[in-house]
Amino acid sequence: MEKKLINKVAMVTGAARGIGREYALRLAKLGANIVITDIDLTAGNYKESDISANTVKEELENLGVKALAFQGDGTDEEFVVDVVKSTMNEFGHIDILINNIGGTGGAGPGLATEMSVEKFKKVIDINLTTTFIFSKHVANIMKKQRSGKIINISSVAGDVPLFVVQPHYAAGKAAVISLTKTLALELAQYGITVNAIAPGYISTVKWDAHFSSQVEELVKKVPIGRIGTTEDCAKVIEFLATDLSDYLTGQTIQVDGGLLALNPSSTNTDTYHL
Ligand SMILES: NC(=O)c1ccc[n+]([C@@H]2O[C@H](COP(=O)([O-])OP(=O)(O)OC[C@H]3O[C@@H](n4cnc5c(N)ncnc54)[C@H](O)[C@@H]3O)[C@@H](O)[C@H]2O)c1
Repeated sequence: MEKKLINKVAMVTGAARGIGREYALRLAKLGANIVITDIDLTAGNYKESDISANTVKEELENLGVKALAFQGDGTDEEFVVDVVKSTMNEFGHIDILINNIGGTGGAGPGLATEMSVEKFKKVIDINLTTTFIFSKHVANIMKKQRSGKIINISSVAGDVPLFVVQPHYAAGKAAVISLTKTLALELAQYGITVNAIAPGYISTVKWDAHFSSQVEELVKKVPIGRIGTTEDCAKVIEFLATDLSDYLTGQTIQVDGGLLALNPSSTNTDTYHL
């Protein structure tokens, strides 16, 4: 792999497992020094995991780059300020930010008419507020540098609510698409681009555990005919994090094997428990 990102610093949030870990590893393979954050840096160390070292930080260092790892809640602005300060003390610049934290944080699914405000806000915070807080503090560094690439992680659910029991998650991911456009408009004059990806069904150890009984049904909805991989997403992140995408901003790319192109109006009213 060509080392296109040598001397660059990339921050990836929620990178202790799953797709975020894959982004961190790919950017490291491209030569970038990496900063990862997670509410639980050991989140990837479960039995079925394919993690190749004790921690993701160690995996990154094994690829020959420098790595920093910070454990904390991405909804806590003080934590994020500390992460940005420590990163600047170590490296002096931040070139790429991947806002990957997301999910329901154990809050689980539910119907909008039955959901507590507390549960709704929790999921909005995990998906939207973390993206806002990291973008705010990292963009203020990038503005001084007059360069940078911010990449937000939405979901196809932010465009079409695939499951009726995800009003909180779908609303949070839709708002991430909107925030991506607003930030792009504000930051273009500073040489900073802001884009997003919206993954479809992407296999991770956690996703497989939840959806194993439904895979056959789900695959039928995907024109490309298979569930996506973390690598499918990481390849698009490479495009958005490198000079290949220099004239692109405010965009959300669906990495979904054609899922939404096939049937954009389909919703699934079955409940599932993620
Ligand atoms: N897997 C999919 O099919 C899929 C589809 C569409 C979008 N996405 C999005 O992609 C991203 C990664 O998904 P994944 O499947 O790897 O999920 P995951 O749950 O495996 O990984 C999310 C990571 O974020 C961390 N995290 C959660 N809340 C946090 C918080 N408040 N502060 C700090 N860290 C926190 C978790 O500990 C975990 O390591 C998420 O934003 C998710 O919504 C995933």
